[in-house]
Amino acid sequence: MTRSQLRMQTQIPQDELERAFESIAACPACRAALSLESSDRLTCRGCGRIYPRNEGIWRFLLPDDAARHRSFLDAYHQIRQGDGWEHQDNSYYLMLPNVPDDDPHADIWRLRRRTFGILMKHLMIDRQAWALDLGAGNCWLSHHLALAGYRVLALDINVEGQDSLSGGRVYLEKAENGFLRGQASMEHLPVHDGCMTLCVVSAACHYVNVSAVLKSVFDVLRPGGKLIIMDSPVYRDNASGMQMMQKQLARFKSQYGLDEVPVEGTGYLVFDEIVAALNRAGFRTTIHWPERPGALFLRRLLRPTSMHREQARFPLFVGTKPLS
Ligand SMILES: C[S@@+](CC[C@H](N)C(=O)[O-])C[C@H]1O[C@@H](n2cnc3c(N)ncnc32)[C@H](O)[C@@H]1O
Repeated sequence: MTRSQLRMQTQIPQDELERAFESIAACPACRAALSLESSDRLTCRGCGRIYPRNEGIWRFLLPDDAARHRSFLDAYHQIRQGDGWEHQDNSYYLMLPNVPDDDPHADIWRLRRRTFGILMKHLMIDRQAWALDLGAGNCWLSHHLALAGYRVLALDINVEGQDSLSGGRVYLEKAENGFLRGQASMEHLPVHDGCMTLCVVSAACHYVNVSAVLKSVFDVLRPGGKLIIMDSPVYRDNASGMQMMQKQLARFKSQYGLDEVPVEGTGYLVFDEIVAALNRAGFRTTIHWPERPGALFLRRLLRPTSMHREQARFPLFVGTKPLS
């Protein structure tokens, strides 16, 4: 079967996606079902809260979460814009994870193309399968998951500018397969328990309270469903992660005048800790390393002895919710 025939077969009309969403939508505050009152308004059947959809994005962010994340988002916008992550050119986003050779983040995207390749091998698709892209940013990965045949809900707290859920518009205008967008915090998911086949946290797990997020993700996955954590910097040794963060914070201070970036996570993951947290949450976990064989040995060999601090690695953690 050709690629375009496969896409035709997995294509999900946008109105079907919208209708299907009502059956999985839950109040992020009280967990009761939501009713679609009009095409842009969901109402909670339990507590009566109203969730509108503005500019194509469902607004599920609870007031306490909005207040909690405000100063993180202010700092995050400043850093992302200053570091050249935001682009005005639609074609840049449509190519991701491919970027031009002279892109300031070309090295990062080279690695991300490899982790993306591993992710694609773990997809279990049937036409009814729902996926959450958590901390979706500009929705580049949501777009690929939708093209692969999932019904996708992209969630993020950030809705300002091209580098946020708002930027997801670029894909929705172009793509054969659409997806839905919602402003929400990963700790308070706007979907029912047991309805997700896949949850992906890509380049975002190091920003969050890991145990709270693992619990909410475990609850919304169906038995046999998978959580994939990818593209977060991982260290064997906590001290190496702290050292990296100190360097980052010194740069943010000198470059942007920021005294702190009030992030809820540590800014990195520690290998043993994340594996233990996944197991505690109830997942069966496997690890997948994106480096080519021998690459790590070569990297150590070529690095001057003065730089022999541990380098971050970027494994994928695949957590499966047991069948019973
Ligand atoms: C580096 S970006 C990654 C974006 C995208 N997933 C990717 O692969 O390029 C991290 C994203 O995580 C989001 N984020 C941070 N904390 C979050 C939380 N508690 N709930 C939801 N999103 C969060 C940020 O707003 C940001 O868009």
